Amino acid sequence: MRYRASALGSDGVRVTMESALTARDRVGVQDFVLLENFTSEAAFIENLRRRFRENLIYTYIGPVLVSVNPYRDLQIYSRQHMERYRGVSFYEVPPHLFAVADTVYRALRTERRDQAVMISGESGAGKTEATKRLLQFYAETCPAPERGGAVRDRLLQSNPVLEAFGNAKTLRNDNSSRFGKYMDVQFDFKGAPVGGHILSYLLEKSRVVHQNHGERNFHIFYQLLEGGEEEMLRRLGLERNPQSYLYLVKGQCAKVSSINDKNDWKVVRKALTVIDFTEDEVEDLLSIVASVLHLGNIHFAADEESNAQVTTENQLKYLTRLLGVEGSTLREALTHRKIIAKGEELLSPLNLEQAAYARDALAKAVYSRTFTWLVEKINRSLASKDADSPSWRSTTVLGLLDIYGFEVFQHNSFEQFCINYCNEKLQQLFIELTLKSEQEEYEAEGIAWEPVQYFNNKIICDLVEEKFKGIISILDEECLRPGEATDLTFLEKLEDTIKHHPHLLTHKLADQRTRKSLGRGEFRLLHYAGEVTYSVTGFLDKNNDLLFRNLKETMCSSENPIMSQCFDRSELSDKKRPETVATQFKMSLLQLVEILKSKEPAYVRCIKPNDAKQPGRFDEVLIRHQVKYLGLMENLRVRRAGFAYRRKYEVFLQRYKSLCPETWPSWAGRPQDGVAVLVRHLGYKPEEYKMGRTKIFIRFPKTLFATEDALEVRRQSLATKIQAAWRGYHWRQKFLRVKQSAICIQSWWRGTLGRRKAAKRKWAAQTIRRFIRGFILRHAPRCPENAFFLDHVRTSFLLNLRRQLPRNVLDTSWPTPPPALREASELLRELCMKNMVWKYCRGISPEWKQQLQQKAVASEIFKGKKDNYPQSVPRLFISTRLGTDEISPKVLQALGSEPIQYAVPVVKYDRKGYKPRSRQLLLTPNAVVIVEDAKVKQRIDYANLTGISVSSLSDSLFVLHVQREDNKQKGDVVLQSDHVIETLTKVALSADRVNNININQGSITFAGGPGRDGTIDFTPGSELLITKAKNGHLAVVAPRLNSR
Ligand SMILES: Nc1ncnc2c1ncn2[C@@H]1O[C@H](COP(=O)(O)OP(=O)(O)O)[C@@H](O)[C@H]1O
Ligand SMILES: [Mg+2]
Repeated sequence: MRYRASALGSDGVRVTMESALTARDRVGVQDFVLLENFTSEAAFIENLRRRFRENLIYTYIGPVLVSVNPYRDLQIYSRQHMERYRGVSFYEVPPHLFAVADTVYRALRTERRDQAVMISGESGAGKTEATKRLLQFYAETCPAPERGGAVRDRLLQSNPVLEAFGNAKTLRNDNSSRFGKYMDVQFDFKGAPVGGHILSYLLEKSRVVHQNHGERNFHIFYQLLEGGEEEMLRRLGLERNPQSYLYLVKGQCAKVSSINDKNDWKVVRKALTVIDFTEDEVEDLLSIVASVLHLGNIHFAADEESNAQVTTENQLKYLTRLLGVEGSTLREALTHRKIIAKGEELLSPLNLEQAAYARDALAKAVYSRTFTWLVEKINRSLASKDADSPSWRSTTVLGLLDIYGFEVFQHNSFEQFCINYCNEKLQQLFIELTLKSEQEEYEAEGIAWEPVQYFNNKIICDLVEEKFKGIISILDEECLRPGEATDLTFLEKLEDTIKHHPHLLTHKLADQRTRKSLGRGEFRLLHYAGEVTYSVTGFLDKNNDLLFRNLKETMCSSENPIMSQCFDRSELSDKKRPETVATQFKMSLLQLVEILKSKEPAYVRCIKPNDAKQPGRFDEVLIRHQVKYLGLMENLRVRRAGFAYRRKYEVFLQRYKSLCPETWPSWAGRPQDGVAVLVRHLGYKPEEYKMGRTKIFIRFPKTLFATEDALEVRRQSLATKIQAAWRGYHWRQKFLRVKQSAICIQSWWRGTLGRRKAAKRKWAAQTIRRFIRGFILRHAPRCPENAFFLDHVRTSFLLNLRRQLPRNVLDTSWPTPPPALREASELLRELCMKNMVWKYCRGISPEWKQQLQQKAVASEIFKGKKDNYPQSVPRLFISTRLGTDEISPKVLQALGSEPIQYAVPVVKYDRKGYKPRSRQLLLTPNAVVIVEDAKVKQRIDYANLTGISVSSLSDSLFVLHVQREDNKQKGDVVLQSDHVIETLTKVALSADRVNNININQGSITFAGGPGRDGTIDFTPGSELLITKAKNGHLAVVAPRLNSR
């Protein structure tokens, strides 16, 4: 049972159980044995109703399938449904016809025992439909036989033909089977259908000549008229209008919207070909169908002596042709009766009533015998073609019984009597087999048998069929006895013979109260399924089923091959009276019971929910009636007598093992021990169950429900676990795959890298080797071995050079060139130097140029000659050391237009006393001017400047030598300037006396005035000291400089 839990909360267990119970509430139980109140008919019907409302038309009573006709296509017979039910355990899936079909088939194959599916139920309950579905299931799911695969088609196609001739629209069912049908399907040892056989029972032939209001004759008549080709109808002398035929208008509903005769005709025509009908046979068969219609239109008129005469010559003519009989013979046979008295044949004319009776009897006989022939013909077509082969002997048989159910009408006649008798027999068989199998199971399982209270209907069967005292015997006797026997005399005989039977009542036998409900011509049987009142009218006739001898003779001479097979001449010569209909039926039933007994039975009990053929309507009264007639409550009682539920240990364990830690996930020991452990764990009480040999028996449904509910809860948690495990597994697999791929990619990449590196190394080794060889041979003339090396050295020198080019003109660095490039290197070096110089020159400012020029001059003069020269090098020469504001305006005025090119403060030493006096030295374009404050002290034109003397030491004294002859001149001037190098350079440049600077070691002599010379002595010392020495010289101690 499948119940879906709606939610799982913290109290998930409770929620799940409740929802499971709700579901059970809604759809009921799928096996009636699980009904708590199994004796209650109301509970039974309520369960049916619940399921019907949910379109669940199938429910079990143990192995018995109860089916409620849905009157709508539920789409539950598809190929997928067939597959779903194949090979699965009966109880693991929802109840279905296919579950029965598959179980039966598997038993047939594995146990190799013949099987029979008995389908019963009222008219319209779905028996024929079920039979068809079963056949379809086998045809589609069984393997095809090695040879003669067509047998599957024939099995299927026999149906429409049989239905055309044997089914009719009744008030209850638009396609009501008017005969009982038992069909055998033979399977070879591989389980393939190889043949079939059909037995038919008691066709309702009275329908040929009469139909109740709202009912029709057999389908074939309408199909032929609707669908038959023009040409064919002309040949058969038929008009395309059912209204023209008296046998078709009795029920006044020749046309019905729910039936498509034209289409059905096509189906039947095709089916006839499939089941081996030749064109001629079809023609013969349809001739008979047509002749029945013509017979119905034969009219009689009475002559003066009240004897009947045929008035419809046309019909007679067609009949003569269609049946292949002589016209005069037929005419005579329809209007006379042949009596054999004392060895002499006498013809006695019939009156109108008798003639009509004879005509109808002929029509019924022709039709019913043709039907029997048809069944035989189909059987020949279905017969296994190689019945002699060894595999034939190992065939097994599956029987399908589709037989009329219990019938109760307002007026019940002979046919209902036979049908209900048939149902009594089958019910008895059912009870016998069910009880037997039940008892056998208990015995086999070693469980004590608990007697079951049930109603055994053998007493009713005996009432009908017992020799001498049975109703059939009495009826036969009344039919056979000489003298005036009527239906009423039969009733009297019945009352006389069977007086005090508890199941028989007649007007006479009944008590005062019941008598009122019984007519004088009626008897009532108390069947197992309920009371049925039969009217005796027609019993004798129908039982006799008389056909006048001359009619038989006529038909025996028929040239229609089918007719001549149906009416055999031996029948005429046979002196023995043929068996009565009831006796024939009884015999065939006994035979059927024997057939069924020899097989393993399965049951399908069909119920129809309403009389209106409407979907969704659940007519409770009607259903209660059927539940009773089908003996379903009885069935349930037998099944539930001891235990509600039983299952093989394996199956039980398999289903519930998850409920006990010891049996989950698998039980290693015997299933039986596993179940014992399981039920102990579940807390089953001893009275709740019994352990058989192979099965566990559970007494109450509630025990099972509790287990089932627990399973539902458990399933939820298991599902979660499984999901989690699966997800884990799934992701792990994915992870491993990814990891594997990563490793793969990595190793490929590493490989690639490794190969690249190896190639590089190889290349490097080769290069190095080449290099070394080149190096070794570097002095050799260029040859292939050293070419690379030499080129390399060149290139690398050049490349290196590019990086290491000198940054400025002072930078003398230059990479050492290889021998081959020595010359180029020199050229490059020059080029580079020129380039730098050029660049330098271009970037130089005029001031700087001047500065440099002056510095160059200074260098020329002093470099290496005067000690403090190096100190002056980094100090820039300045254009002037005194601004115009520092020079007295008077001096400027005195100079007039002469510009001052340079001015510097100096110290002047007197020529005599060597007193230092602060003076300014100015250079103009023409002269050196010595200024004391605002007074030009001395002006020495450059023309008069003969030279300049300085010492080689670090002092800053200098002497300007002046032209001696010039008396205006005061003599040479001894000066001291803090910027001696700068000052002297400027003076030399201005006066153009660059070459006239004397750098003296030791002392300088100068002219101190007319006729008087002075001397300055220079000595190196620790610090500058200028003093007047005792010898009258100026002594200068110049500090020694570190650089010296
Ligand atoms: N299982 C079913 N599903 C759908 N419709 C059904 C089913 N069984 C029967 N019927 C309907 O009910 C009608 C009568 O069924 P049928 O088998 O002929 O009844 P029975 O043979 O018992 O007299 C069918 O023609 C069909 O329309
Ligand atoms: Mg039927």
